Amino acid sequence: MIQLEQTFMNFLLHHQEKHNRTYHFLVLMDAVVSAAKHIQHYYLTGALRGNLGLAGDVNVQGEDVMRMDQIAQEITIQYLKASERVIHAVSEESEGIIPINPDGRYFFYFDPLDGSSNIPHGLPIGFLFGIAKRNLEGPEDGHLRAGKDYIAAGMFVIPTGMFTLGLRGAGTWQFHIDETMNFVKPTRMNLPDEAKTWELSFNESNRYTYSERVQKWIMENESKYAFRYLGALAGDFHRVLANGGMFMYPAIVNHPNPKKNRPEGKLRLMYEGAVVAFMCREAGGTAVNEEGTPILDIQPAKHHQRTALYVGSKKLVEDIARVLRNTG
Ligand code: AHG
Ligand code: MN
Ligand code: MN
Repeated sequence: MIQLEQTFMNFLLHHQEKHNRTYHFLVLMDAVVSAAKHIQHYYLTGALRGNLGLAGDVNVQGEDVMRMDQIAQEITIQYLKASERVIHAVSEESEGIIPINPDGRYFFYFDPLDGSSNIPHGLPIGFLFGIAKRNLEGPEDGHLRAGKDYIAAGMFVIPTGMFTLGLRGAGTWQFHIDETMNFVKPTRMNLPDEAKTWELSFNESNRYTYSERVQKWIMENESKYAFRYLGALAGDFHRVLANGGMFMYPAIVNHPNPKKNRPEGKLRLMYEGAVVAFMCREAGGTAVNEEGTPILDIQPAKHHQRTALYVGSKKLVEDIARVLRNTG
């Protein structure tokens, strides 16, 4: 028997049809998938073309820009423009809002290439995105949306060909690229309830810079779980989605050099934290910030707002959230 492999586009077509939705989201997602494939191609051929090094610029976050950061940004914007479905985009690589098409229907928040420290080693990196819909009736209500207002959020783990997409109220789905470069095998993700497969993921070398209460929680809990850390959110979160447990990037408040403290956290809310929090919710998990507030409830005040992040299995995240809220 020849086995049918359902492609991502076929899956999405059925989804849109079942929920009586328009084809606009399909057009946008086709562009996003093409951008990701294109970025993956550049990454896989990057060493040959000399694209795995620094670009010589510093970005809006004050970080060194890699050549691949620029390539991924350019590719994504070109595809977003061609889709004609996006009004504004917000990217880690651009200080201001990127106007795309005044008649566009969606806001697109993205990090075209996350986990840059893995680039020189050819190790997995991520492409993260969140999508919200503009107000179609009446005046535009702006693109600073909380994660709970996203309609979808997803990530590609490049160059492994893993693609995960959370759809509002319709679950988180994983696809894998096959040799024809199609994303196939839709698999619905549900965080396992059983603690026996759970993993903890955080930058262990930062541990003594966390608040005392977070350090204490780690000390009391770490030996119960396996520890994994790749240093690229998409890959680390991918494992948590499959195995359960928690990824965390706590606030840095006890750094020996106080200038290196990051009381707001390191990760960006709109295109990193809220993206994984959205996929996590659709897979039965949850996410909070340093105050124990749900990440998806945070109303951003600016595009590049940072957040501390605790994301993963409900029981585990709620346990640390009690400590963060000082109620545990
Ligand atoms: P960037 O956006 O600068 O590439 O940062 C990567 C993020 C995220 O992917 C990862 O989880 C985290 O930063 C790693 O940071 P550390 O190197 O501090 O552990
Ligand atoms: Mn990033
Ligand atoms: Mn980036």
